[in-house]
Amino acid sequence: MSKPRTIAVIVGSLRKESFSRKLAKAIAAVSPANLKFDFVDIGELAHFNQDLEATPPQPWIDFRNRVKAANAVLFVTPEYNRGIPGVLKNAIDVGSRPYGSSVWNGKPAAVVSNSPGTIGGFGAYHQLRQSLVFLNMPTVNQPETYIGGIGTLFDANGELINAATGEFLKGFAQTFADGIERHLG
Ligand SMILES: Cc1cc2nc3c(=O)[nH]c(=O)nc-3n(C[C@H](O)[C@H](O)[C@H](O)COP(=O)(O)O)c2cc1C
Repeated sequence: MSKPRTIAVIVGSLRKESFSRKLAKAIAAVSPANLKFDFVDIGELAHFNQDLEATPPQPWIDFRNRVKAANAVLFVTPEYNRGIPGVLKNAIDVGSRPYGSSVWNGKPAAVVSNSPGTIGGFGAYHQLRQSLVFLNMPTVNQPETYIGGIGTLFDANGELINAATGEFLKGFAQTFADGIERHLG
């Protein structure tokens, strides 16, 4: 039996009915049992301003501590104008500072993008990965996870209704779990 591992889940949408959040929950539901998912809210984080570091806002402190306590990070994001939503970039920036104390450093990660369209948030996925390279987060390469047609995959209760997608997500989650063990030992 694998050791319990906590995954901080960062959802790049604040919308109540967010497909990204439903997708993150669907991934959690098909993941190996040793993975525990901690959905970390990013909506209350003040815009990053280095001047605030003198007395960091409590939501910054709480956010940094939650991510720090996790063994790995799962990002699930929509695409906004072929990039990542500003709220997600803000969370990444908040977690990356003060300089030398980034909470992201060395943590295994996985990125899942999605869109109602066919491209599945490909632009957002790769823009996010650009930052994760700099932040030194070893990230799942394969399978690539651009989930298109997201608007057709859930029922009115937010349950995944597409069996093929469920199987795909299950394989992805296992790959992520295996990768975490390789990095954490
Ligand atoms: C500001 C904005 C920009 C968007 N840009 C894109 C885009 O570049 N590519 C895309 O596929 N969808 C785009 N969309 C549509 C989103 O994919 C769609 O609204 C999606 O449901 C948002 O994710 P969520 O359900 O997790 O909130 C955009 C939506 C908004 C609000």
